[in-house]
Amino acid sequence: MSEQYKTPFEEQLSACQQHVNDKLMATFSSLPFLDSPLATAMLHGAVLGGKRLRPFLVYSVGEMFGLSRESLDAPALALECIHAYSLIHDDLPAMDNDDLRRGQPTCHIKFGESLAILAGDALQSLAFEILAKQDMPNIALSDRLAMVAELATASGLAGMCGGQSLDLEAEGKQIDLAALEQIHRHKTGALIRTAVRLGAYSAGQRGREVLPLLDQYAQAIGLAFQVHDDILDVIGNTDVIGKRQGNDQQLGKSTYPALLGLEQAKKKARDLYEEALAALTELEKQSYNTVILKKLAGFIIERNS
Ligand code: IPE
Ligand code: IPE
Ligand code: MG
Ligand code: MG
Ligand code: MG
Repeated sequence: MSEQYKTPFEEQLSACQQHVNDKLMATFSSLPFLDSPLATAMLHGAVLGGKRLRPFLVYSVGEMFGLSRESLDAPALALECIHAYSLIHDDLPAMDNDDLRRGQPTCHIKFGESLAILAGDALQSLAFEILAKQDMPNIALSDRLAMVAELATASGLAGMCGGQSLDLEAEGKQIDLAALEQIHRHKTGALIRTAVRLGAYSAGQRGREVLPLLDQYAQAIGLAFQVHDDILDVIGNTDVIGKRQGNDQQLGKSTYPALLGLEQAKKKARDLYEEALAALTELEKQSYNTVILKKLAGFIIERNS
């Protein structure tokens, strides 16, 4: 993101990134063994860089229902810890074998494989510790419990881990579009959908009539996010994306550009953007302010990192 000029949306995203970094640091500072190699590896994976888009979604949805930022910190941080763990493990030699992430050496390059595996594991535990324990004013315990279950489901077999396993299985194979969509909706879409749901649950909207519309929005941007990530692997610049451009092709990954070609992949991302906007239009009819969610959907398919 250029330092010279930022749009109002980029200013908001930057402010959110700063807020998440501060809160993550405060959370880490309260942990024991902070000087240990494991904690250092966890900090490396969680704190250095990152767009913080999943926390931004939690905050944006919660704020749409009138919540304060502070009351959304726990789900926002918990989700970012799960995301950081997923990236550390995604980069391991047994998975995508990447040496660069967020412009830095990946966790296993810097600290070794065993510490990287454990840093991912411990970040996953920390996520649930935060969601179960950190202050969430005025939240019903039943809602908090539902948030823990939601995050667990989205992270595991039926969500991110399941998708990652399908992604690895599909390496070097010709798969069809339905199978590719299945991979992307799980490995990436599940956590993005959960960001939206956690924001809504924090505001007591569990089971309410707005949830299907929020789900439509979340699932569309969740898939669009990974389609655009695939596109950036083809057209992005390593210095800007902070990870090695071209790695998907080298690994024979099943991606949207590989299956459809670049132009059709871009069209797919735009169609998903339109689908997200259609859900927001319905929410606007119910008098919700969806300006930020709209800008975020645009950012997801236009970003250069
Ligand atoms: C990268 O996610 C992994 C995918 C799910 C494609 P992000 O692009 O959100 O990574 P950071 O957090 O900004 O580094
Ligand atoms: C990773 O997808 C998704 C998760 C980490 C769950 P990718 O493998 O495409 O992510 P990048 O490109 O390495 O960030
Ligand atoms: Mg991967
Ligand atoms: Mg990867
Ligand atoms: Mg990728």
